[in-house]
Amino acid sequence: MKINITKSANSKISELDFDNLEFGRIFSDHMFEMSYQNGVWKQPEIKPYAPITFEPSMMALHYGQAIFEGMKAYFADDKTIHLFRPKDHHKRLNNSARRLCMPEIEESVFIEGLEELLKLDSAWVPRKHGHALYIRPLMFASEEYLAAKVSAEYQFYIITSPVAAYYSEGFNPVSLTTSENFVRAVKGGTGEAKAAGNYGGSFLPAKKAQEKGYTQVLWLDAVEHKYVEEVGTMNIFFLMDGKLITPQLQGTVLPGITRRSVITLAKEWGLEVEERQISIDEVFDAHKNGILKEVFGAGTAAVISPVGHINHQGESITLDRDKIGPFAKKMFDAITGIQYGKVEDKYGWTHPVKLP
Ligand SMILES: Cc1ncc(COP(=O)(O)O)c(C=O)c1O
Repeated sequence: MKINITKSANSKISELDFDNLEFGRIFSDHMFEMSYQNGVWKQPEIKPYAPITFEPSMMALHYGQAIFEGMKAYFADDKTIHLFRPKDHHKRLNNSARRLCMPEIEESVFIEGLEELLKLDSAWVPRKHGHALYIRPLMFASEEYLAAKVSAEYQFYIITSPVAAYYSEGFNPVSLTTSENFVRAVKGGTGEAKAAGNYGGSFLPAKKAQEKGYTQVLWLDAVEHKYVEEVGTMNIFFLMDGKLITPQLQGTVLPGITRRSVITLAKEWGLEVEERQISIDEVFDAHKNGILKEVFGAGTAAVISPVGHINHQGESITLDRDKIGPFAKKMFDAITGIQYGKVEDKYGWTHPVKLP
């Protein structure tokens, strides 16, 4: 399907200070837009980034039918723009759509939409190594109707925002705490979908953790409150006993694209990787026994985020609080190396966008 393109008459790029980018505050000149009505997606469009108007009766506002993705485009060493694993993000978007009874999007429309948007807004992709253009595809139910039911109408957008390097001032290990009263997801719920409501429900526990001085909540399973699940917007990894261990995907954890990349590279390097249940007690015991070497989060925003401290019911363990472990650093360098075209991309993860 050909995308209708309306170029912005006034670029806002001259207002942008590339040396002081704040995450998700400033948006590039254009956005991708597509509407779903009468059982089909209509003509896709790229047009100037602008407010959209809806009635207060719009279903997404009442019943939370809203999903999104988070990915990045990088200005690579060969002076092209690289998307990282866009087809995997597309698959996850459609998985989220199915869970919320929303219509799927064709891969070719998603990829072409991204490519055309990046071609138009290529100047918005920061040139500095470490910086990137954050890409936010989103879909929501747009029927104006107060019945609690599946919506008949949807809107899909892709908006983009230039972001600075996550670690411009060195790696900053995060401090995590489990939560005694709150859970993020239950089996059979929406935890494995990138559903907007999952995040809304996590803000109160995250706020309480921050009030106690922790960066984020380390989620435990909702039934036994025993097994580690994930962190805010990251999957979690434990380097212990000579193996890399991460919670398995069983419906409650978001299947991270970075998580999958970490597993692939760790296996390539000859490390045994276990995707399995891991209890918080096992983590604390491993620390006591001196076999817990590193803990880190993995996600699009930071790529790899070292964990320096974990609190669980008043007991705590401290890892390398002020630095990143050697394995996590090697993983960070390997993944970012591929993203910026500095390291061979053996797995075809990068998707170069040919600029006009
Ligand atoms: C809840 C949650 N877990 C994990 C992740 C990491 O996923 P990815 O590596 O695809 O960014 C994210 C970020 O998207 C997230 O929101």
